[in-house]
Amino acid sequence: MKPIRKAVFPVAGLGTRFLPATKAMPKEMLPIVDKPLIQYAVEEAIAAGITDLIFITGRNKRAIEDHFDSVPELEAELAAKNKNELLEIVRNILPSNVNCIYTRQPAPLGLGHAVLCAAPIVGNEPFVVLLADDLIDAKVSVTQQLVEAAHRQNGSVIAIQDIDRNHTDKYGIISGEAVDEKTTRLAGIVEKPAPSAAPSTLAVVGRYVLEPEIFEHLRKTQAGVGGEIQLTDGIASLLTARPVFGLQYEGMRYDCGSKAGFFQATLELGRKYHGL
Ligand code: UTP
Repeated sequence: MKPIRKAVFPVAGLGTRFLPATKAMPKEMLPIVDKPLIQYAVEEAIAAGITDLIFITGRNKRAIEDHFDSVPELEAELAAKNKNELLEIVRNILPSNVNCIYTRQPAPLGLGHAVLCAAPIVGNEPFVVLLADDLIDAKVSVTQQLVEAAHRQNGSVIAIQDIDRNHTDKYGIISGEAVDEKTTRLAGIVEKPAPSAAPSTLAVVGRYVLEPEIFEHLRKTQAGVGGEIQLTDGIASLLTARPVFGLQYEGMRYDCGSKAGFFQATLELGRKYHGL
């Protein structure tokens, strides 16, 4: 498999579960303690050697572009006041070898459609997809864990977590055969099945390494659950042609797209990293 250098961050969703906070502000800019969700995801990707960050943006998402841009007047002000620690934080949001590329999803037609918007920028290389509202606190970047597994297996790899059967209708759920203790080769994948119909309790989490063949499958994918073009359905089609694996990663995931997960992340990361 070719080296993996590009990461796609779909950030064009409406974030309705956090209204009114997300009426004029992107959900991905909501902070856990002092850092926006999107920055946690970007740092995880960079820790895995990613150099090209591709953001799929939409209406009301300008704050994300501004966040990763430099702010000379703020830097000058902090320098003049000798606030050097803060100056370093503001200056070092991105290492100098990393590029940001922004493209727009014309309407929030679904995660699969958002990923497809990256096709002209990704080209013919494997790439990572990170959903910033899944914040994963891990010793080794989960993106790094997936990239290593993709090279080992020579195929696409998606992050999976064993969940309570009562919650299968909130996730993509896979079926397949175990390759080793942590890895499953997918035989199928379905979006949000009812607990009684779910083929397993292995749920897809918002991290994927995908081979570029996914794009041709997404182009053929029709709107599915919720009237949206689902990435899950694109992956279901991909796995008829290419191997796809699920990896049970090492790390603690917080579903920061839900209020309960967001609150738990604030509490636990606040205690662990900020002594709160
Ligand atoms: P979600 O469904 O969790 O996000 O999509 P949402 O739609 O913004 O939030 P709610 O459900 O209304 O509260 C997961 C990720 O996919 C992106 C979202 O921005 C989020 O990061 N997404 C979703 C897109 O970029 N485009 C879409 O059409 C849908």
